[in-house]
Amino acid sequence: YRSLRIALLGAGSVGAQVARILLEHGDELAARVGAPLELVGIGVRDVDAKRDVELPRELLTTDLATLVAGADVVVELLGGIEPARTLLLDALAAGADVVTANKALVAAHGPELFQAAETVGAQVAYEAAVGGAIPIIRPLEQSLAGDRVLRVMGIVNGTTNFILDRMHTEGSTLEDALATATALGYAEADPTADIEGYDAASKATILASLAFHTEVPAACVHREGITGVTDAMVQQAERTGRVLKLVAICERLEGDAGDRVSARVHPVSLPSTHPLAAVHEAKNAIFVTAEAAGDLMFYGAGAGGPETASAVLGDLVSIARRHVLGGPGGPASTHADLAIAPFDEVLARH
Ligand code: NDP
Ligand code: HSE
Repeated sequence: YRSLRIALLGAGSVGAQVARILLEHGDELAARVGAPLELVGIGVRDVDAKRDVELPRELLTTDLATLVAGADVVVELLGGIEPARTLLLDALAAGADVVTANKALVAAHGPELFQAAETVGAQVAYEAAVGGAIPIIRPLEQSLAGDRVLRVMGIVNGTTNFILDRMHTEGSTLEDALATATALGYAEADPTADIEGYDAASKATILASLAFHTEVPAACVHREGITGVTDAMVQQAERTGRVLKLVAICERLEGDAGDRVSARVHPVSLPSTHPLAAVHEAKNAIFVTAEAAGDLMFYGAGAGGPETASAVLGDLVSIARRHVLGGPGGPASTHADLAIAPFDEVLARH
């Protein structure tokens, strides 16, 4: 099979890690997919900007429109609405598939993108848009498609969890903890999106829409961030054995007149024994309750470059396999190069 041309838009916290992994593990991914994944270019604002990851200069370009035009798959890691929206609509119109981690875009323009993809038989994948490394989009979209989801709730913003955690455990100020979260690559380019709850609200929009098979506009999500959380409130919570967390709650409300759905994001004071109280740093945890499946729990890194790159690359491998197989994306093939370790040897290691 011919190689697949991958256009990467963005080389920031997440994009640079996606590029690094594609370049470092290209052979392994090609074996898994059944075709080479050729990174044909990386769209950025400034090709000379200093980056944590050294990227081949010849791949960097500021001409994103041309880069998109020649691609089989466009991986969008720019953030924000424009130019991401226009570039992805152009990519889809040309028949390319799209992978994005951009929750703001999916929450605001998901239906437009999905419609554009459906028109040409292309795919929009966005596992990284909610929960960083945690698989939650596909479980809701596919694994639970035959069930009736009643509730999705949890911590879906790593930055605010990091900030509240540092305020509780180290007595940090919101400002200092935000500066650290930004330096670690967790925060949005404009961290107002994190601390005012817009990012969590975008994720609640996506989760509720998937869980309840209903378009839940971002404007319908009640949103409160953490800027109203003071040191005194944290200390008061501590004194009463409680922990403050920013929580997203999406619910199916059953009633005589039929079911309705609701989604909200706001700080919650939880007993320190609550499972969400044990979610530290930039970790996320999402609980799903479905009628037949019962309670399910998803936990892991909710933000961070390499962690989010894992989810982006999962989408990319799945889409690439769809190209190779000419059907729906399937599981990656088994890797033929690894030997099986005998049990005695494994036992000796422990
Ligand atoms: P960064 O701000 O670190 O990186 C953005 C990248 O996009 C930069 O390389 C920048 O170029 C480029 N870029 C932005 N705007 C333009 C433009 N108009 N034209 C050309 N290039 C542009 O963002 P992140 O990597 O943190 O996030 C990327 C996406 O992933 C966002 O949608 C974010 O919400 C999402 N996300 C982020 C996570 C995280 O932990 N950081 C986790 C999950 C999702 P240059 O380098 O030249 O400035
Ligand atoms: N800024 C986001 C967060 C990135 O902190 O959760 C992951 O979506």
